[in-house]
Amino acid sequence: MTFFSSATKSIPIGNDMPQHIAVIMDGNGRWARKRFLPRVAGHKRGIGVVLELVKACVDHNIGYLTLFAFSSENWRRPADEVSFLMNLFIQGLKREVAKLHENNIKLVLIGDRSRFNAELVTQIEISERLTANNTGLTLSIAANYGGRWDILQAVNKMHIASPELAGRFDEDHLAPYLAMHYAPEPDLFIRTGGEKRISNFMLWQLAYAELYFTDTLWPDFDETAFNLALASYQNRERRFGRTSEQLSEPVSDA
Ligand code: FPP
Repeated sequence: MTFFSSATKSIPIGNDMPQHIAVIMDGNGRWARKRFLPRVAGHKRGIGVVLELVKACVDHNIGYLTLFAFSSENWRRPADEVSFLMNLFIQGLKREVAKLHENNIKLVLIGDRSRFNAELVTQIEISERLTANNTGLTLSIAANYGGRWDILQAVNKMHIASPELAGRFDEDHLAPYLAMHYAPEPDLFIRTGGEKRISNFMLWQLAYAELYFTDTLWPDFDETAFNLALASYQNRERRFGRTSEQLSEPVSDA
């Protein structure tokens, strides 16, 4: 995949392997309840699945993996679950960051950090700094993130930076201010857990992504389940507004 600006500007050519995969990891609570365990047991197990998926993406030479770990709406959960998740993020980062670094993985957190406690913010900063120059997989964790929040914060920054352009802004003006300005748009979106929604995740960037929904609960999303998602992606015809016939003709961006 060769574009880094909006898909509506520079039209990419479909690839066999997605270069950017975005995932909503849903179903941890239900996985735990089915086993008469507290919901948080599902989150704990979910971390292991994250690590397996990261490894699979490295093995497949996928450039970008973006995971929705905590939405702006997840603060509405019971306080003890929120605090368990925050603690899980801190401990997970502390435990895994050295291994990510050894594997040349760059870690980036996207989302509004202002509500996180000081320990989590510090741990995020340490992890990002350590892995900043890595050139392998870019692993983005979306936490306290929402697609609408992202678009609005980008619009505000763009407006402050270039007030003289008001009324004439286009996609290229906005792109550098979006949280994921450093990545190509996702080729493949995966949601586990049976719901068929985007739930305010990467609203701008998912415009042309192939959407894949599976009933598999996140803690059960193993290598076989991931391979099914990849196979489904490989069977899609990515047209980006072109006709099927045009896809077999030489490429032009016009
Ligand atoms: C959704 O399942 C899952 C979450 C809100 C949390 C996801 C977090 C992890 C898997 C831990 C990963 C951590 C890092 C650092 C990447 P749910 O609780 O909504 O499940 P349900 O729909 O069955 O209730």
